[in-house]
Amino acid sequence: MTTKERRPDRRRIAELLERELKIVADNTPACRELYRRGLESLPMGVASSYQARDPYPIYAREGAGSKIVTVDGKEMVDFHNAFGCMVQGHAHPVIVEAVHERMKLGSQFALPCEDSIIVAEHLARDFKLPKWRFVNSGSEATMDAIRIARGFTGRDTVLKIMGSYHGHHDYVMVSVMMYDEDLGPRDGYVSLPYGTGLPACAVAMTVPVPYNDIAMMEARIERLIDEGRTPACLIMEPVMMNLGVVLPEPGFLEAVRTLTKKHGIVLIFDEVKSGITTAAGGAVERFGVVPDMVTLAKAISGGLPAGAVGGTDEIMSVIAPGKVYQVGTYNGNPLCMAAARASLEKVMTPEAYAWLDHLNGRLMSGIDAVNAAHGLPYYTVGIRSKGCVTFSRTKITDYESYIEHQDHELCRLAWAYAFNRGVLIAGNREAEWTLSIQHADDDIDRYLAFYEELIRDVTAA
Ligand SMILES: Cc1ncc(COP(=O)(O)O)c(C=O)c1O
Repeated sequence: MTTKERRPDRRRIAELLERELKIVADNTPACRELYRRGLESLPMGVASSYQARDPYPIYAREGAGSKIVTVDGKEMVDFHNAFGCMVQGHAHPVIVEAVHERMKLGSQFALPCEDSIIVAEHLARDFKLPKWRFVNSGSEATMDAIRIARGFTGRDTVLKIMGSYHGHHDYVMVSVMMYDEDLGPRDGYVSLPYGTGLPACAVAMTVPVPYNDIAMMEARIERLIDEGRTPACLIMEPVMMNLGVVLPEPGFLEAVRTLTKKHGIVLIFDEVKSGITTAAGGAVERFGVVPDMVTLAKAISGGLPAGAVGGTDEIMSVIAPGKVYQVGTYNGNPLCMAAARASLEKVMTPEAYAWLDHLNGRLMSGIDAVNAAHGLPYYTVGIRSKGCVTFSRTKITDYESYIEHQDHELCRLAWAYAFNRGVLIAGNREAEWTLSIQHADDDIDRYLAFYEELIRDVTAA
């Protein structure tokens, strides 16, 4: 065991990256070919820009349990799990059966169905918020939640966390992931558009504040109040999950709850990633802080496109004729609701969550042991099915510390090492994972084997 802290050699990382990316290229001819064809009809060759990858994407063919197969016929253990949608694992037999049975009975009526009431009853109990509406994605959920909060308060300004992602509508495509921009001072971050096509007036209405820093958040809120811009809402991930996984520091969520209540600011926990994956009642259950509203999507319906917005009776009462129109042709779609009901009632059981704890515990302690054995200060963060290894010698607590300390080049290398050894991890900006309940111990062994090889090679003299 080495006790002295080491720093990986930059040149070695660059050489290994070149070698591993060549192996990726040599083994993905079908992806390359599909990309060429895709470019003819899809910008960047993909249906969503988040599916793109330089120099071309990995196209999937099928998935079952903990594995997916790419169009090159390569079987991979899936730790990406569709950015966390697939905590149930691919093609879970109970969900397949529920969707199949529902399909035979008709899949869309634009009339309400019983399953939407049953799913809403489950969510009301689990997230401690009595009223729910359904949508088709996380972006719709956050867009509607913000409109409801504005309708309820009669105010316009939206607070969000610097660096957080809440979907692709205008009011949240602000101060998301920028590396080179001037963020401004911590108590006065600037509102920066995430890409073009966003009206300046929409961008200006959304104000970023730091995560895990209640003093700076309070200072900003007080200034906004002085300027006559008291915020309608604060939308935030209770656990940040787009910087790897960043947990709230002890007392932070409670302080946010107190502060927002004091100023009548609607507190929206965006649990699109943390909902269902971290507990039946998401971060609300895990941390015991109940917001005014919750947004869900991704894992809620086991791979079908549904989202949900929950809130208190008082706030959700603004959904009424002549007030807030919360609408959508496919809202509460019977297939999505059948999948969500089967998942909530029969798949994501207490035993399933205990299994995730077992798997995540093994994965994190295995990675920690490899890091320690090689004298590296990197650390793991995990919560149920979610986790990451942070390639940083300093603890990451917010966006600023993330851009300063995360080793992005090593993240890219980790992705390529994993891929070449049959392990799929999410993107290559951070080494983040979502486990599924269909993962087994030997899937964890596969991850640990690739990770051991990565760290051994990176630190080799
Ligand atoms: C926290 C959070 N909110 C909202 C969204 C948007 O969800 P969707 O991509 O389903 O629109 C995402 C997507 O990654 C997310 O991570």
